[in-house]
Order: sequence, then C-alpha cells, then structure tokens
Amino acid sequence: MGNVKVDLKKTKISDEEFIKYSKDIKRIHNELHQDNVKFKDETKNDEPIGWLKWPEEYDKKEFENIKKCAKKIRNDSDVFLVIGIGGSYLGAKAVIDSLTNTFYNLQDKTERKGPQIIYVGNNLNPNYINDLIDVIVDKQISINVISKSGTTTEPAIAFRIFKELIENKYGLEEARKRIYVTTDKKKGALLEIAKEEGYETFFIPDNIGGRYSVLTPVGMLPIEVAGIDIDKLLNGARLAQDKYNDNNIKYNECYRYAVARNILYKNEKTIEILATYEPKMRYFIEWWKQLFGESEGKENKGIFPAGVEYTTDLHSLGQYVQEGKRNIFETVLNIEESQSDITIGYDEYNLDELNYLSGKNLSYINRKAMQATMKAHIDGGVPNICINIERLDSETIGHLIYFFEKACAVSGKLLGVNPFNQPGVEEYKTNMFKLLKKPGYDEK
Ligand code: PA5
Repeated sequence: MGNVKVDLKKTKISDEEFIKYSKDIKRIHNELHQDNVKFKDETKNDEPIGWLKWPEEYDKKEFENIKKCAKKIRNDSDVFLVIGIGGSYLGAKAVIDSLTNTFYNLQDKTERKGPQIIYVGNNLNPNYINDLIDVIVDKQISINVISKSGTTTEPAIAFRIFKELIENKYGLEEARKRIYVTTDKKKGALLEIAKEEGYETFFIPDNIGGRYSVLTPVGMLPIEVAGIDIDKLLNGARLAQDKYNDNNIKYNECYRYAVARNILYKNEKTIEILATYEPKMRYFIEWWKQLFGESEGKENKGIFPAGVEYTTDLHSLGQYVQEGKRNIFETVLNIEESQSDITIGYDEYNLDELNYLSGKNLSYINRKAMQATMKAHIDGGVPNICINIERLDSETIGHLIYFFEKACAVSGKLLGVNPFNQPGVEEYKTNMFKLLKKPGYDEK
C-alpha cells in the first residue's frame, strides 16, 4: 500500500499550538469511540457514526453478493447508469475516476474492465437526460439507483425516466433483472418500488449518512462494476482505521490535520483549497468538497471548501490564490509516483525552444510545477498543508477516504457544529416543492 503522510510545517503552526488542543481531541475521540454517541443526526434519528468501524465490521456476505451482481453487469451491459446525487454518487465517481484510465468511458470495450459508467439523477436538466438517451438508447443498459432517503427528487425523476426506457426496451421481466437498488432498509418510496418489482436491493446502514457512505454498497457496487478491487479499498480504510485511532494529538496525523484547519480558521483563513496535479483526482476533490461543505457549513460557521486542478487552474484561479484576499489556505494532494511517463524528445530546430527539457520526464516537470507553485503561494501568504501520497492505488484511496471522513467529523466537532446533519439542504427543497405544488407543501 502507498503511504500517506501529512506535512503541516508550512502552516507555521507551532507544536505548542497543537498541544493546546490535546484535551479537546481526547474528548472528541472519546465521544466518537464511545458506543453512546452524543451527536445524534436529527434528520435521520440514528447515531451516524457507523462509518467509523465499517472497514472492520462491514457485511462480508453482502459484499460477495455485490461482486456477483457486478460480474453479471459486466457481462451483460455496455452502459451502467448510476442514478444518485450528493453522497449517493460522488464517492463512487471519485474512486472510479481516480483508479481507472482517465478516458475510461472512451476506452475500447476489451481494454476496460467494466461497462461505460454514466452518472445521472444529479441534476434536473432536460438536455443532460435527452442527450444521454440519444447516446445510450441502442446499447445494453443496467441501472443502479441509489438513494438513502428513497425520496430525493433528482434521482427519483431520472429513475422514472430510465426505468420506463429499459422496460420498453427489454420488457418488464428482463428490465427487472437489470435494475439494482441501493437504499434504506426500512423506509422510503424507492424501497417500496424495489419490493413491489422484486429488484435486487442493497441496503445503506442506518447509522451512516450519505456523504460518509462511499465504502458501503452506495459506492461498492459501481466501483466493483468498474473492475476495481473493493477488498483492497476496504483494506486501505481498515489500515487507516487503526492508524488514526490514537487519541494523542502528537501522533495522530488525521487529528493534526483537523486541528490545523481549526487554528487556521481562527486566524481568518476561512477558505481551504484542495489542490491536485492529477486530473484523475478531480472528483475526489468534489467528494471532499461535499463531505466538508455539508458537514461544517452551518450556524454561520465553517471553512468554505474549494478545489483546484493544477496546472490547469494556475491559468485561471492561480492569480487569485497568489494575490487575492488573504483568507485562504491550500492543501495539496501530492502523489509521489506517477503510473506512467513521457520523455520529452530532442528537436534539431528547437523552434518551440523546449530543448532545455529534452530527456526530462513529464512527471518530473509536473513535480517542478508543483514545487514552484507551492513556494510561490506560501511566499504570497497562503499557508500550505501537503498530503504526501506514495502512489494512487485502491488501498491508498481507501486510506484517504477514511482519513478525510474522520478528520471531517473531528473538525466539525472542534468547530462546535454537528458534522452529521445537513438541515440547510431542506430549505431550497421546501421552496421548490411549494412552487411545484407538491401535495402537503401548498402555500397557505
Ligand atoms: O450527505 C448527504 O446526506 C446528502 O448529500 C445526500 O447524500 C444527498 O442529498 C442524496 O440523498 P439520498 O441518498 O437520500 O437521495
């Protein structure tokens, strides 16, 4: 497994400052690790920390069934539709994108380990859905509809549309064999549909909220369909579970990251930018943004989580990071080993003036761009956290997922908010339902 190391030196936070948090960290650690958790998720009425021991306690039998279904999907489908929004799709996309070919969906079928994977139900745009129907209608299709509540509007609408499409295409009986549901065990409209139609169904544990659920069937079915080894992913998370179980702030890098964020926040650094130099990690950043944004942004508090993909964004947001308002800090995901490389050739005429790079590898140049940018941003007054990742593999991604989930929970608690609910998300929904005249929401 690739190692993960957190370098906080460039935050200029002293050891004494970290040590001041010892007591708080011990208290939060105990809160999380006690069976009787203090923070209840008001929206779900369950203790939402099942993710904490999930890498150890996950249902091995269910995972075998996931593998069996994934094998069938790989055999009988050209296209796999993942219908879900927020925590019900971002984690799967983050993992699949980071561990497969950058152009996975464009790869030849024989090169890919699974079908093309397309995400839908994460917006309400008709063009997106019509365009998708145009490109997939003649292909062999399977669907995984994922919704913990089973009532979220975006995936429910997409499911209605694509359920009808494949029922018309295959007939009711075959369509039923191509629909996989991931939802709550006890409640929700989706569960009722699944029971009525007899769909293969996977369950999301009660005590794991959407954005903490990627390592449950929510992420596991799509990830296994893409040909990624879910055992290795869980193994990486399991190692992280042990590694970040130390309640001593001196030795627990996950807690140190959470504390560093809190100190920076108190010093008016209210925006954290997560940066990568690996385009495969773009959706990992999206997943991270949702995790921290929904967990911390409440009660008029919280660090705003932003993301950049360098060097692309050095030509757009780079200027702001270098010289804009000094309320930001940057966390760089530094992947040390590149999976492949390209050596720059020699050109006799050198009209592009690039011969000074001939013989150099592109990964080396990318690394120099990273080092140069980090130095420039630090010199420009942007504290830097560097998360050094030895290489991108399933175990390391599993490790990183666990690292950020636990850091997020601790960070939210340091801030004094409940990191497991999302009451603010309801506000727009209520307005929208009123405008759409959903029964029970009529404007009085
Ligand atoms: O983290 C969360 O709880 C949310 O982002 C949900 O994942 C998102 O709203 C989708 O909800 P559901 O899975 O109930 O459709």
